[in-house]
Amino acid sequence: MNVLPFLVVQNDALLRAHGVTIEYPSGRGTVRATHEVSFDVWRGDRFVLLGPSGCGKSTLLKAVGGFIAPRAGSLMLNDRPILKPGPDRIVVFQEFDQLPPWKTVKQNVMFPLLAGGAARKEAEARALHWIAKVGLGRFVDAYPHTLSGGMKARVAIARALAMQPQILLMDEPFAALDALTRRRMQEELQALWEEARFTMLFVTHSIEEALVVGNRILLLSPHPGRVRAEINSHQFGLHSAGSPEFQAAANRIHGLLFGPEDTAGRPGRHGDRNRQAVPT
Ligand SMILES: Nc1ncnc2c1ncn2[C@@H]1O[C@H](COP(=O)(O)OP(=O)(O)OP(=O)(O)O)[C@@H](O)[C@H]1O
Ligand SMILES: [Mg+2]
Repeated sequence: MNVLPFLVVQNDALLRAHGVTIEYPSGRGTVRATHEVSFDVWRGDRFVLLGPSGCGKSTLLKAVGGFIAPRAGSLMLNDRPILKPGPDRIVVFQEFDQLPPWKTVKQNVMFPLLAGGAARKEAEARALHWIAKVGLGRFVDAYPHTLSGGMKARVAIARALAMQPQILLMDEPFAALDALTRRRMQEELQALWEEARFTMLFVTHSIEEALVVGNRILLLSPHPGRVRAEINSHQFGLHSAGSPEFQAAANRIHGLLFGPEDTAGRPGRHGDRNRQAVPT
């Protein structure tokens, strides 16, 4: 007898944010940083959180990192609630002074591996592999203060990827770099992703960077951050920066970010209407 398999529809997103509201205590009560933000990140996504300063991008990233807990809603990684930081989520920050200055490049990359219990030989092999991947093979024994900003960014990325996290969390990692170096780092990140296909959650307030780096972009409203729209941007990259299509997408995003919230004046509904439906 031919039995049709029972179809189970399930959402096997790697990261699920559902109705995430985050508040900080303040002198006069609380500051609401994000309001009911929902999104799913799939394995291999280059998922970007885009929005103006103060809309809660870093706050969301910290919550995914397990450093702060939502006031309401849920954050799940692999169907398990995120309750604390873990080696499955590694953060790369904007400030490259996150590298201890007394450790060489190799020691910096090895350090979290050793702290996580890896054997020295294994940690060294993995560190050297990723240092070479980010093009710093000649600088394994250099100290951070002798490196340029772009080189420190590469060390931070090598250190994070060597940990083989399930998701790489990047908070404006290139914002402190000059325009040319920033562009080069975006290119290198893209090349690393092509090779290793890691999953990343990338925060930026630059529309152009979001289009270049991301395959999906979540647009957040100004403070408190709410979802304004979610768009697909896999067709864009550095090669298309400056093309008419790229410019049109950037203009459209600008309109969605800074335009009126809702024709009927109801805040918070724009996101649902525009989710996955924005032609770019
Ligand atoms: N530790 C804190 N205590 C109180 N309020 C905070 C704290 N951290 C952030 N906030 C507030 O939460 C809101 C969101 O801040 P957040 O740093 O997440 O914004 P952002 O989108 O990352 O901005 P930027 O692009 O400037 O980095 C802001 O109004 C900010 O003032
Ligand atoms: Mg921030």
